[in-house]
Amino acid sequence: MGRIRKAVLPVAGMGTRVLPATKAIPKEMLPVFDRPAIQYVVDEAREAGIEHFVFVTGRNKGAIEDYFDRSYELETTLAEKGKTAILEELEPSRPEPGTMSFVRQQAPLGLGHAIWCARDIIGDEPFAILLPDVLVDAKPSCLAQMVAVHEETGANVIAVNPVPKDEVNKYGVIDPAERIGSRIRMKGMVEKPPVESAPSNLSITGRYILNRSIFDYLEDQAAGAGGEIQLTDAMARLMEKEAFDAVEFEGTPYDCGSKLGYLEASIGFALANREHGNDARALVKSMLG
Ligand code: G1P
Repeated sequence: MGRIRKAVLPVAGMGTRVLPATKAIPKEMLPVFDRPAIQYVVDEAREAGIEHFVFVTGRNKGAIEDYFDRSYELETTLAEKGKTAILEELEPSRPEPGTMSFVRQQAPLGLGHAIWCARDIIGDEPFAILLPDVLVDAKPSCLAQMVAVHEETGANVIAVNPVPKDEVNKYGVIDPAERIGSRIRMKGMVEKPPVESAPSNLSITGRYILNRSIFDYLEDQAAGAGGEIQLTDAMARLMEKEAFDAVEFEGTPYDCGSKLGYLEASIGFALANREHGNDARALVKSMLG
C-alpha cells in the first residue's frame, strides 16, 4: 500500500458567490483571520504528510503561485531590519523548491474534470484531494485523520460531516450502510440531491484519499448535477469495484463557499488563535453589546 505523498488542490473556480471580493483576486487568497484561506489547506495537508501539491488553476489565479514563492525584496528588507518574528510567520508560504506543481483547467467543466487534469502529475499512486472552499479546524488535521484510516484499511476514504437536512442539496451526500467506529461503509453517494430524496444528511466535506483508478472513471464520466463532470459520480462508480469508507472526522468544518461562511471561518480561527484568541473573544462580545 502506497503512502499518500501528493495532494490535488482544485483552485480554478471563479468565486462568483463571494463577488465583489473576488473580482481581482482569487477566492483562495481571501484572508481568513490573518492568512489566505489556501494556507490553512496546505498546512492541513502538510500535517498529514503531503510532500507535493498539485494546484489545478485557471486564468487570473497567478496570485496563488506568487504567494508560494520567495519574495526577495520583502524578505531581504525584513531580514535587514531584524524582523525575525515576521519572517518566521512567512515560513509556511515558502515551500521547498520543486514541491508544488501548477496545471491549468482550461474550461470550467466541473470538479471531476479539474481532478482529471492532474492525472499525469499524480502518476501511479494513491493521492489526496483537498477542496480549498472548506477549511477544517482539527487536531490532528482532518486529512491526517483520514490518512490514519487509509493506512489501516487501504481503502478509498472521504471525510463527511452532518449538515442541516434542508441544506443537503448544496453538497455531495452519502448513503450509509454500516458504521464501524468512526468509519462508515457506504451503499452509494449522490451529488446535490433534492432535499426530499437525499439518502442522509452526511455531506462530503471536500477531503478525499483516492486510488489512481479514479482517473479511469473520470476519463469517460458524463456531466451530472449542474451540467458539470462530477467527482462524486465517478466515485460512486469506483465504489462498486473497490473498498470505500467515509470518515466522520473530529473537528470543525467551515464552508467558505459563501460570504457568511468566510465570516464564520474568520471568527472561528481568530477565536482559536493562541496569540489573539482572548482579545478576539472580547472584541466579538463587545460588538454584540
Ligand atoms: C463540492 C463537491 C461536493 C462537496 C462540496 C464540499 O461541491 O462536489 O460533493 O460536498 O464540494 O464543499 P461544490 O461546493 O464545488 O459545488
